[in-house]
Amino acid sequence: MISKKSIDEIFLTAKIEEVVGDFVSLKKRGQNWVGVCPFHDDRNPSMYVNPRLGIFKCFVCDAGGNAVHFLMEHEKISYPEALRYLAKKYNIVIEEDEDKSLEEIAEQNEKEALFILNEYAEKYFTRQLFDSEEGHSIGLSYFKERGFKESTIRHFRLGYCPEGWDYFTQDALKNSYNLDQLLKLGLTKKSESGKLFDFYRGRVIFPIHNAIGKTVGFGGRILKKEEKIAKYFNSPESEIYHKSDVLYGFFFAKKAIRSKDNVYLVEGYTDVISMFEAGVENVVASSGTALTEGQIKILSSQTRNITVLYDGDAAGIKASLRGIDMLLEKGLNVQVVLLPDGEDPDSFAKKHRDTELMEFLTKNATNFLIFKAKILSKEAGSDPVKRAEMVNEMIRTIAEVSDQIARAFYIKECAELFNLSEEILNTQLRKVVWKKMHQSPHQPDPAIDQKMVVSLKQAPSAGNELNHIHHIEKSIILLILKYGIYEIDVETTNTEGKSSFSKIRIDQYIFNEFDEEEIQFTTPIYQKIYEEYAYIASRTHHQDEIKKYFSLHEDKAIQDFVIPYLLNSDPEYSPDWERRFDMYTKSVSNNIQQLNNEVMSHILMFKIRIIEQYRELIIKELQEKHSDETVNNMMIKYDLLIKRRAELAKLLGVVVSR
Ligand code: CTP
Ligand code: MN
Repeated sequence: MISKKSIDEIFLTAKIEEVVGDFVSLKKRGQNWVGVCPFHDDRNPSMYVNPRLGIFKCFVCDAGGNAVHFLMEHEKISYPEALRYLAKKYNIVIEEDEDKSLEEIAEQNEKEALFILNEYAEKYFTRQLFDSEEGHSIGLSYFKERGFKESTIRHFRLGYCPEGWDYFTQDALKNSYNLDQLLKLGLTKKSESGKLFDFYRGRVIFPIHNAIGKTVGFGGRILKKEEKIAKYFNSPESEIYHKSDVLYGFFFAKKAIRSKDNVYLVEGYTDVISMFEAGVENVVASSGTALTEGQIKILSSQTRNITVLYDGDAAGIKASLRGIDMLLEKGLNVQVVLLPDGEDPDSFAKKHRDTELMEFLTKNATNFLIFKAKILSKEAGSDPVKRAEMVNEMIRTIAEVSDQIARAFYIKECAELFNLSEEILNTQLRKVVWKKMHQSPHQPDPAIDQKMVVSLKQAPSAGNELNHIHHIEKSIILLILKYGIYEIDVETTNTEGKSSFSKIRIDQYIFNEFDEEEIQFTTPIYQKIYEEYAYIASRTHHQDEIKKYFSLHEDKAIQDFVIPYLLNSDPEYSPDWERRFDMYTKSVSNNIQQLNNEVMSHILMFKIRIIEQYRELIIKELQEKHSDETVNNMMIKYDLLIKRRAELAKLLGVVVSR
């Protein structure tokens, strides 16, 4: 497999115009290259290649994508083949993941030896459990008391380590296992006086396996009730045991997880085993700690659906809610089952064998967000401050959900649950996302700035058709797509009437204006881009990344809309350009002023157009029959609109003449 590093290097090095240029004769046009598209029958140069975005696009047949896409399509080769082709072209030495140095081979051998030692230990412990008198009378009888069948005990490869000091260690050394490795795996310990002893002596053993069933560690449970000593001893981290990448029971559950397309998440070893006994096999344990990213990755390799089981006593629930937010962030669908008071999965499973447990779990699974909302709502009671906090907390959680449809669903549910309008929650949600985005401000290099600002004037949407709301909306969308993360100076007036300038990102400024006036785009595709924009912009510092995202958008309509504008926007190479815009290129501050004016005038014009629409609506309404009171109210509204429009027009005049 080609390593991630090599793939990155290939993408960084490959130049789209050179890759395409090998097959198609290209001519420079502005910042693009154009050529005859090889994917359909044509004589005209309809294919555009844009070096900065690294994409090609044919405006006739719609073929498009990056350099790798081009090769795959044109040469009918696979993804790795395309990568290899590019590596060869650009003299990049491909790193294969399985290519190993001598050091790595030594490391691999060491790991192999550790696995073998663990396997030996596991076999020793199970032999002790089943074949020794002590194992039988102490270990096996303990497991049976807990209700584990012999077949289940064998299935999970449970074991027993004899009481004494060093029975196990002596047996291992006698069989020529290496002492260093015994110590490394934590099977053997050295006392202060240098005496060796078995770490798990007198404990029942729960072996821990990785995803392919190799034994990476052990948990040993004490049998006596001694309060001072930990109930479980666990293997330390080692070269073969990275706790954050292992889930107890996963190897045994894998098949069931896939076939049920769901996994139950519990806390402990015995929870897993008891649920297995009760017929639920798609179950794993986090071993009492918060879920890690590695563990989530393992689970999501088998299913997108996770059901978390909570003990009846609610103490830990609130603390663990945050950890679960991480599952949502990874796009997983999380359900929750709350067990009856005082029960844990182990005790509950024991009382509800056969189909009962399964039925209970299915019936009681609640969507995690709804579960969380209910818990928070109950906790907040009717205290308005607490309820406001609760709403904010829920909004933060929903903001982590990456799927748009799911997000809309949660907003709807919460609106009902909290008795608030969806609109208010949506506004809040957008605020949170925008705020998250604003936490990492970044001003692009002014050298690039200089070239880009002027181009606005020539954007295809600007021109004399501006007298329609649709066109202003389009301009605003193009503004954020092209310059969103750039900063402009905004004049603010404080309560004493003193004005000052402060810097603000263009996208943030536009959002604030929209938010303040509760403005939405009337054209659905623009509203969609606007809503999605924040999610993308919060994850990048480069305007080009944003452009790239939308030019490769899964929604064809969005792709088709943005690409022509993003490809044709920069006239910096037009021969006419230097002469016409010379004044702007002299100083960067001039350009910023120019951009400021563009943004503000567009917003002002947009507001004016919206007012116009309202005005027209009122006029139309007035032509119908209404009560005097209604007519009165409409007239008042009309006057207000006219007044507001005049104010805006005055501002616009100032901005435009600046
Ligand atoms: N655990 C641990 N060390 C402890 C206590 C707990 O490592 N001293 C981990 C174990 O992985 C355990 C899990 O946390 O399985 C959950 O703890 P708990 O519910 O106390 O253990 P159970 O597995 O339920 O064990 P039992 O039912 O035997 O008490
Ligand atoms: Mn328990």
